[in-house]
Amino acid sequence: MGFLTKLFGDTKKSKSVIGVDIGSSSLKVVQLRRQGGTAVLETYGELALGPYAGVEVGQATNLPAAKIAETLNDLLREANVTTKDAGISIPFSRTLLTLVELPRRDSPEEQKTVIELEARKYIPVPVTEVQLDWFILPEAIPEGAAPPPKVQVLLVAVHNDELSLLEGVVRGSELSATFYEIEIFSTIRSVVDEPVKPVLVLDIGASATKVYVVEHGVVAFSHNIPSGGQDVTRTIATSQGITVGDAETLKKAHGFTQEAGTYDHRSIELVFSRIFEEAKRALTQYEMAKNAKVSCLVLTGGGGVTKELEAYAKGFFSVDVRVADPFSKTQAPEFMRPVLQAIGPEFAVAVGLALRKLEEEE
Ligand SMILES: Nc1ncnc2c1ncn2[C@@H]1O[C@H](COP(=O)(O)OP(=O)(O)OP(=O)(O)O)[C@@H](O)[C@H]1O
Ligand SMILES: [Mg+2]
Repeated sequence: MGFLTKLFGDTKKSKSVIGVDIGSSSLKVVQLRRQGGTAVLETYGELALGPYAGVEVGQATNLPAAKIAETLNDLLREANVTTKDAGISIPFSRTLLTLVELPRRDSPEEQKTVIELEARKYIPVPVTEVQLDWFILPEAIPEGAAPPPKVQVLLVAVHNDELSLLEGVVRGSELSATFYEIEIFSTIRSVVDEPVKPVLVLDIGASATKVYVVEHGVVAFSHNIPSGGQDVTRTIATSQGITVGDAETLKKAHGFTQEAGTYDHRSIELVFSRIFEEAKRALTQYEMAKNAKVSCLVLTGGGGVTKELEAYAKGFFSVDVRVADPFSKTQAPEFMRPVLQAIGPEFAVAVGLALRKLEEEE
């Protein structure tokens, strides 16, 4: 090893890791390796679950663990994944996030007892059916000032049956997982850089749109809308009298662009306006309660790739709109940038999971 490489960081090959996003319509994987201070993109890939479930590509599925594992193994081979060390996503729709204010206690043990007792009141299902976790939100207490009498706690509950499904997938695959993370936390890591001002994120998946506000890097508010890209496709299919498969292809090619001879523009607008209306209602509630305004909107998920959706969203929400670019957090050959930018929103969860896994390896 040369003198300079000794000075400027270790060039020995570090371990590769992968993030696995188990979405309702497709599986996505991203493999990264740490080199010096950067995360190098080694490979990525996506495989639709539809064909394994007898539905069209882009539609949501509800497959048993063994079938998902089989698909995942196919994807690992297709994408030439070379590591087993994985982080796995948990779908937001199977979780419950609640931000609550609870009495502050000086001793950590007492604080834990207070939180775990109080949590039962906020979780509307028996605590035996969920795994419970919580974080105390950091707050700046001026030096010399007494801490406020309350702490802000983010309560997190995940259904046990969802965790057993995911564990089943990992058992049936060639991977080993060290953590399972709720997808919105993964996305925040890969696409939200704003450290202070509140940012609204819309993850438009196939079956659901995840709406949340990130403030100081933490989820301040979240909401699940059970509608997404599959509903856009179905509406185009119905209004044009074409198959779901053809509608999906047309939608991907044209999105919101108003090109003649494609499909009635109102069909795509109908679904997006309904999703956006609900997101806006939820956002207004948050903004009124917190007396705050979001500074910008980030579009992510496969639906975030929709052509000219950015302009439509900008008009709808009257805020700055950005399309997520998670691969910008990774190092990749320059010639690949345009492709990575174009498909980025679909891979936000997988990139975020791989980034966390890299942090673990340090
Ligand atoms: N180029 C595109 N234009 C418009 N929509 C697209 C495009 N590419 C993908 N989509 C849509 O995005 C959806 C899939 O998004 P994504 O992969 O984020 O979903 P998922 O993670 O499987 O679902 P969920 O998050 O709801 O579980 C599909 O409905 C698909 O039609
Ligand atoms: Mg998704």
